[in-house]
Amino acid sequence: MKGCAEAHGRGPMGALPLSYLGDDVLRQVAEPVKAISSEVRKTIESMFATCAAEQGIGLAAPQVGLAKRIIVIDLSEHDLDPFCLVNPVLKRRSGPPMTDEEGCLSLPGVFLEVTRPRDILVEGRDEKGRLLRFEASDLLARCIQHEIDHLDGKVFTDHVTDGTRRDEELKALDARLVDLRAARQAAMLAGGR
Ligand code: NI
Repeated sequence: MKGCAEAHGRGPMGALPLSYLGDDVLRQVAEPVKAISSEVRKTIESMFATCAAEQGIGLAAPQVGLAKRIIVIDLSEHDLDPFCLVNPVLKRRSGPPMTDEEGCLSLPGVFLEVTRPRDILVEGRDEKGRLLRFEASDLLARCIQHEIDHLDGKVFTDHVTDGTRRDEELKALDARLVDLRAARQAAMLAGGR
């Protein structure tokens, strides 16, 4: 599926339909954003709206069908202002490997433990094109690594070492996705697209 925000019906408050595991866009390497145009800023707004509507803490553009290197992080429940990163790059991963449970809006209902480095140094641009470069640890570092993975066609279950548990979870997910894809299709048709 060639990703394009305009190809999707828009839901309440500009929220976009989600991509689910099995949709090609989630396995593509996303393209860098060449210029932060008004269209890109609109995409970022829709991504924040989608993240909020779905009660996520982070979202990458491929998850709304757009193979572009954009992520948003919303840890407002952890007292952190929501922010976006355009063309984010991990400049450093360090610290001890930390294991914690992860989930993903594109794999609804799947929660598995993933081990990642605790600390990162990340660089990217905000929605105004300003350079951001900062260190992060723990949950924030985990979120950013998870979202940047999406830009490289990876999902968190790729990192899960317990293959048996993962395969069981993915099988159960496949069954759930039948209904979710049907609901998404119905919503997109109702949106007149
Ligand atoms: Ni995800």
